[in-house]
Amino acid sequence: MACSKLFLSCLLLQLTSLFLVPEVAHGLGLKVGFYEKACPNAEAIVKEVMAQVLSEAPGLSGPLLRMHFHDCFIRGCEGSVLLNSPTNNAEKNAIPNHSLRGFQTIDRVKTALEKACPGIVSCADILALVARDMVVATGGLSYDVETGRRDGNVSIMTEALTGLIPPTANITALKAGWAQRGLSVKDLVVLSGGHTIGTSHCSSFNNRLYNFTGKGDSDPSLDSHYIARLKLRCKPNDQTTLVEMDPGSVRTFDIKYFDLLPKRRGLLTSDSALLDDSETKAYLDLQIKTGGSTFFKDFGVSMLNMGRIGVITGTAGEVRKVCSKVN
Ligand code: HEM
Repeated sequence: MACSKLFLSCLLLQLTSLFLVPEVAHGLGLKVGFYEKACPNAEAIVKEVMAQVLSEAPGLSGPLLRMHFHDCFIRGCEGSVLLNSPTNNAEKNAIPNHSLRGFQTIDRVKTALEKACPGIVSCADILALVARDMVVATGGLSYDVETGRRDGNVSIMTEALTGLIPPTANITALKAGWAQRGLSVKDLVVLSGGHTIGTSHCSSFNNRLYNFTGKGDSDPSLDSHYIARLKLRCKPNDQTTLVEMDPGSVRTFDIKYFDLLPKRRGLLTSDSALLDDSETKAYLDLQIKTGGSTFFKDFGVSMLNMGRIGVITGTAGEVRKVCSKVN
């Protein structure tokens, strides 16, 4: 820009843009308190609805924390996991998403927000805020959520089918999947700590009990007493039974999940795999030794990192009126 005329205002404009660029570059257009002016009570409304929901159905804390993860890992955090497809071809129709629950809760939050501030708060942001509220409601530490995401309008079943990392993943596949999304090995081990709450279907780990190498054997890296106990709950081919991921404290956000891993009681292969890398193992050891000295705070930091994946901001995308369909 040539600044010959109106020199002072021109210079100011250039200086402003100098300051704006890095903010956009680092924060990808997200910021804490994005709705402060347009919908000042947005976060309080989410929290209030979620408190009501959990008083009616406390078991939804796990599924709703997981939903933000499944949203972010496919096409970024832009609400594509919430979309319905008339031909059953959307992300939510993919097998790994069949076990997601709580879509109606997100609709309930959205209805409350639309009543207070129509067309302002995106469904992608609702997922991020709800995830934080689930952490807090189960005893984790609160963290500031960056908001300002817009909603996408594409959701493809095969992308979720191939893109969501399976529970059978080994450490190499896990690290690759996280790196591909700009997340670190530390983010991997910290966010796997999300398995401190919630349940899993037997079908997500039954191979470890009954058919680990195709010869009717069980996974030698799983504790044999634990296997025996799990077999009482899960019969071969069981598709419906739910098992606690962190037995004894399934609704408490604590470090027991990490305690279980070196005892060879991580439920999923992807949980046990955290013992197979020196960095993830060192993190586990530290948290166990120090009673989770940094885990609770780290979790909020890593959630922010995950919440930045592939976001749509500014004027791109849209703010859906109803989370299950595009406007
Ligand atoms: C490291 C890669 C991950 C894999 C392979 C994985 C896989 C799974 C699987 C298979 C289940 C059980 C689903 C079922 O059978 O019902 C599950 C449950 C869960 N996951 Fe993950 N997960 C991963 C990372 C994460 C992350 C990053 C979070 C959140 C920060 C998370 C949060 C949860 C929660 C809360 C549940 C319990 C859901 C419920 O109660 O219905 N997971 N995960």
